[in-house]
Amino acid sequence: MTIQQQRTFLSLFLVLHVWSVWSDVEVTTQDHFEVYLGDSAEMVCHYNFTEIDGEPEFLMFQWFVKEKNSGSRIRIYYAADNIVIVDPGTEYTGRIQVTFDQHKIQLTILEVELSDNREFICQVNGLSDGTMERRPHLRVFAPPEAPVITGVQTGISVTNEMPSKVATCEAHNGFPKFNITWYRNNMPLVSLAGLVNVWTSYMVESRGMYSVQSTLEYQVVKEDKNANFSCEVSFFVPGAIRTVESSSVGITIHYPPTMVELWRELPQGLVKEGDIVALRCQGDGNPMPTFIFSRKEEPNVELDSRGNVLTLQAVSRRDGGDYVCRPRDTTVPKEVKGEMQLTVHYLDPAVVVPKESEVMLKGEDLTASCNALSSEQTSVVWYKDGKMVGRGNMLHLQNATYETAGEYICKVTVPSVPALHTSGSVHIVVHSGPQLVGKTQEVHLEEALGRMVNLSCEARGHPAPSITWIFGGSQSWYEVFSKSTDHMTHSVVSVTVKSDIFAMCNTSNDLGNDVRAFSIKAIPLVTTSAPFSPAEGSGVIFVVIILCLLLLAILGSLLYFLLKKGKIPCGRSGKQDISTEKTAKDDIVVEMKENANAKSEDTVLLKAINPEKNGTNDQNVYARRPHQQCTCAA
Ligand SMILES: *[C@@H]1O[C@H](CO)[C@@H](O)[C@H](O)[C@H]1NC(C)=O
Ligand SMILES: *[C@@H]1O[C@H](CO)[C@@H](O)[C@H](O)[C@H]1NC(C)=O
Ligand SMILES: *[C@@H]1O[C@H](CO)[C@@H](O)[C@H](O)[C@H]1NC(C)=O
Repeated sequence: MTIQQQRTFLSLFLVLHVWSVWSDVEVTTQDHFEVYLGDSAEMVCHYNFTEIDGEPEFLMFQWFVKEKNSGSRIRIYYAADNIVIVDPGTEYTGRIQVTFDQHKIQLTILEVELSDNREFICQVNGLSDGTMERRPHLRVFAPPEAPVITGVQTGISVTNEMPSKVATCEAHNGFPKFNITWYRNNMPLVSLAGLVNVWTSYMVESRGMYSVQSTLEYQVVKEDKNANFSCEVSFFVPGAIRTVESSSVGITIHYPPTMVELWRELPQGLVKEGDIVALRCQGDGNPMPTFIFSRKEEPNVELDSRGNVLTLQAVSRRDGGDYVCRPRDTTVPKEVKGEMQLTVHYLDPAVVVPKESEVMLKGEDLTASCNALSSEQTSVVWYKDGKMVGRGNMLHLQNATYETAGEYICKVTVPSVPALHTSGSVHIVVHSGPQLVGKTQEVHLEEALGRMVNLSCEARGHPAPSITWIFGGSQSWYEVFSKSTDHMTHSVVSVTVKSDIFAMCNTSNDLGNDVRAFSIKAIPLVTTSAPFSPAEGSGVIFVVIILCLLLLAILGSLLYFLLKKGKIPCGRSGKQDISTEKTAKDDIVVEMKENANAKSEDTVLLKAINPEKNGTNDQNVYARRPHQQCTCAA
């Protein structure tokens, strides 16, 4: 034992001895008092007397603190017999007040400092009546500043083998020591070997307060890319524990792709030859992985891609097949890849049989075919002159006629890929000897002398037939109309009736000829009469004609008279009658109607064309034109 220790031991013994002998004075107090730094602390000791009646004659009150290093007592306050001394030269000089009230002595410390966090001694001494002291503790609290968290800025890889630093947290100037707790998504994180490490270090600031720095190491997983990390300080305050949380931070997680997708970005819908095709590859890794494209059959041939898009210009059917994309990073497992099948639809040019053009003889049959190779079901439709003439690959042409001839176009479409279509064509030529339109071989006519007659011949056939006119005798005739196409020739000749006429039109081509004869009987104008039925005698007819003429003369003079007087305006009907008669006289086309009744040549229906009236005035008249002779009947 050193002398110092001996002395301490001795004084302790004496104090205990004194207590045991004079225990009349009793002092009580709280174990500790709590105060915020800078506030005023109030410490109270109560005293009482047990074995004596009334107050002792002498009472002395003292407050002590212990010197930090040596532990020796330093008095800071003394009061007895109206003498009050605040000891000079101590830490508390000028900072304390002591008040008395009803066996209660209260020490107030103004503007509490950290150094006031210590033991105080309050002593009540009644000399012979005994003495007693208590040692309450003053606890000083300083809440730390709000914690500040700093997340790691660089990406953290899930492939790291040890927990990686995720964030640091700092909190400054707290007292007493305070704790830091880490949170992930508001759930506390506790140290766990291999998964969570928390490294916390405390520093004592110059003023004696604590600052804390804590580092969280954490084994990240992919799901942490959305996790929030925060830290929280918990610290004591008078009578409680309070917490303050930092803001939260997210972290960047680096993880290899676990899923890769490959899909067609362009074009939308089905792919056909010639399209630009873009295949995009995407995976879920972070940072975004880059990919290698290849065909499944040739996994080692890298296709040229850009920005994770494989672009195929103007695809052909050879580009169809399976495509694969996989991360360029070779550490990624082989099965992490995207796959897709590309189907390229196509339609080849149509092949038409027979090719280009084909000659058919009249009456023949022919089957044409049209085929186009396609990846999908095709549909074929045949057209001629803009009209649909058939469906399907085969077109059956039966019993060829002139109408059969022409251009046949087959249009091939792919119903499932509307953009695909093609077409082909074949030109059908029908060869046949010429044939005159109309069935009569001979045409008999009667016509007044001096009149002009048009004779018409229209022949069909291929190659285009030629028409030659042969006139008996020395008739003067000339062609007034002529037209020739691939399959027909039409000729109209004009002849003046000077005598009976016999004419022939002969049409021919390589394959034959056809002939029609015309015979025109010339009739003198005056004796012109319609052959009425034999039952009516010619005398009767004569009388009727005379009467008609007489009536006409009377009517004529009457009309003339009235017109002169201006009673009747020149009516439209009268004029028309005259012109109709005139044109009917001048323009007669003798033409055989195709469906004319060929049984009786006498009743052949003739067509009178009036070109001055657009030639459409199809006024059918009989060859003998009876009503023309009897206009008085109108
Ligand atoms: C700090 O942590 C310790 C140990 O878990 C605990 O005893 C103490 O009460 C905590 N302090 C605060 C202020 O939470
Ligand atoms: C019609 O013309 C053809 C060819 O020129 C000829 O062979 C034929 O004899 C002619 N027919 C008549 C009736 O003149
Ligand atoms: C004959 O035909 C020509 C041309 O079509 C026409 O100008 C003429 O008037 C016609 N003649 C008769 C008598 O029909």
